[in-house]
Amino acid sequence: MSTGRYLPERVMTNADLMKLVDTNDAWIVERTGIRERRIAGDDMGAAEMGARAARIAMEKAGVEPGEVDVIVVSTATPDRWLPSTACDMQALLGTDNAMAFDICAACTGWLYALSMAEGYLMAGRAEIALVVATEKMSSIVDWKDRSTCVLFGDGAGAVVVRRSKGERGILSSYHRSDGKLGDLLYRPAGGVRIPMDSGVLERGDHLVRMAGREVFKSAVRSMAEAADCALVQAGLRKEDVGLMVPHQANIRIIEATAKLAGIPMEKVFVNVNRYGNMSSATIPVALDEAIEQGRLKEGMNMLTVAFGAGLTWGAMVVRW
Ligand code: ACO
Repeated sequence: MSTGRYLPERVMTNADLMKLVDTNDAWIVERTGIRERRIAGDDMGAAEMGARAARIAMEKAGVEPGEVDVIVVSTATPDRWLPSTACDMQALLGTDNAMAFDICAACTGWLYALSMAEGYLMAGRAEIALVVATEKMSSIVDWKDRSTCVLFGDGAGAVVVRRSKGERGILSSYHRSDGKLGDLLYRPAGGVRIPMDSGVLERGDHLVRMAGREVFKSAVRSMAEAADCALVQAGLRKEDVGLMVPHQANIRIIEATAKLAGIPMEKVFVNVNRYGNMSSATIPVALDEAIEQGRLKEGMNMLTVAFGAGLTWGAMVVRW
């Protein structure tokens, strides 16, 4: 697997947020571990961010655009309803021989996307897959709601996956969802059931709403359970994990999950302090940084876990 990332240049610090809502650096750092996040400009969309990350991953993999067979894009912030962000991204990349589609599983989306790509590769229907997560969370955050606007950031990550035989690759995939808990983290309106109108816009009903405490508790429980199941499926023990790469939502969620899953924090990759929660983009961005920093090495068992709106959650073990 080869990785790439794109982070917008603009940094928004906790001090900057204090100019927008009644908050402070100490509260945000203590409750979330987040110190700053990136914010994409008005002219930057999900397809463009994803394409920038994908070009880097493809270059590292030595893959030409025409060689890509399938593109799976995870995003909760598509540029437009129709066509998919994956197709818009395909046009930017010139990956003309691929099929391209989006999936929506919120913060768990990149893991779901990787599993889908794995399916195409395993079935022999593709040789090379591009698995991208791209999120412009700043466009769906309520900048008047201090309980959510401090959490999120923008960015994109991409991974090129090849079909191969041998020791390395995906060892296990465990994914779940529970639609009954959908209203814990959602956007009330702006889709087809309650279309966008001036009332929706005025009330901010098209923006993210979250029951923070409930989400916190579910996240920890579900990710720890998923980590256990993925390890069992892979036939590995906790001690065999070289690096855990969790969804970066909040340092307290990461620490509590690692503790419950029995993985020491020295083996957990964390960058939520610099980027905040970029929804499904956090894991591929973290993978790219972990490789760059020499924390994720060839032959290592990497455990990745995620949790998001839906509710959705999952874990995978990859021998890197
Ligand atoms: N600055 C200052 N005070 C704040 C802020 C803020 N930004 N936000 C809320 N507060 C206040 C509240 O108003 C409340 O004040 P009150 O006691 O006077 O009523 C107080 O802080 C405590 O609020 P809580 O919501 O109870 O705080 P909590 O300890 O639960 O922390 C948090 C809130 C950080 C959102 C936490 O619940 C959490 O991390 N939840 C998970 C959120 C998350 O990561 N979601 C995404 C995961 S899934 C995905 O990635 C899509």
